[in-house]
Amino acid sequence: MIIMVHDMPRYAKVKDKDPREVVLLVGNGCFWKKCGFCNYFNDFTKDPEEQYKVNKEVFDKVTGEFGTLEAINSGSIFELNSQNQDLLFEVCKNKNIKKLIIESHYVYKKKILDFKEKCNKLGINLVVHGGVETFDYNVRENLMKKGMGNPTVSEIREVFDEINLLVGVKGQTLKQVEEDIEIGLKYFDRICVNLYKEMPDIMPGDDLLKKEFIEKLYPKYKDNPKADILINNTDLGVGD
Ligand SMILES: C[S@@+](CC[C@H](N)C(=O)[O-])C[C@H]1O[C@@H](n2cnc3c(N)ncnc32)[C@H](O)[C@@H]1O
Ligand code: SF4
Repeated sequence: MIIMVHDMPRYAKVKDKDPREVVLLVGNGCFWKKCGFCNYFNDFTKDPEEQYKVNKEVFDKVTGEFGTLEAINSGSIFELNSQNQDLLFEVCKNKNIKKLIIESHYVYKKKILDFKEKCNKLGINLVVHGGVETFDYNVRENLMKKGMGNPTVSEIREVFDEINLLVGVKGQTLKQVEEDIEIGLKYFDRICVNLYKEMPDIMPGDDLLKKEFIEKLYPKYKDNPKADILINNTDLGVGD
């Protein structure tokens, strides 16, 4: 389990699909912290000096070699303080990053659209990656406690270019998971399917569902260029 500002890999390169550098930054902490499946939000610091120190060290590794940077922070981009957001833009400018991928919760939709405009003005194509987890309202809101409300797929698409889907919590079915993946591929530019990593302080997983997913659906989607499938939560090369 993640405890505040951890010593863990925070920089990686993804070379196959959608080549990019990935930085796992540290922010002020997720505003929500209620998703039953998540404890990643424990990686945060309210101390601006510590936040800057950790992030500066990670940013110094960015080379810009792919022109694409994915900057994530165990929460939403808006939970980075302004000094660190400015640092991110500085890195994009200095390393000629033309495509910036960030993560955010849906609740920040207004801020996301403003941020997109700001990036456009800076000549950066902002790609917003958001956690939807599933399109099944009951599972997402009543079971997972995602806190998104009940937007339609097209409303979600107005805000998110790419989405995260979660597979393997108790209460999901394989049929539902397949439907989620199909909706994700049809309406969004890319999807990231996260196999649920169960830990003691979060909701129960479904080992049989995870096994069925790996046997029946993983082979069908693993080579799809629009899909990242993270069997282990560290498969991108960051986190623990
Ligand atoms: C940590 S959130 C950060 C982005 C933003 N806060 C959001 O909720 O959209 C990113 C993604 O991590 C994934 N995730 C969280 N807890 C997980 C777990 N225990 N196992 C696997 N994936 C998990 C979810 O799919 C989630 O959308
Ligand atoms: S999934 Fe995202 S919104 Fe939910 S608790 Fe984790 S970091 Fe916060």
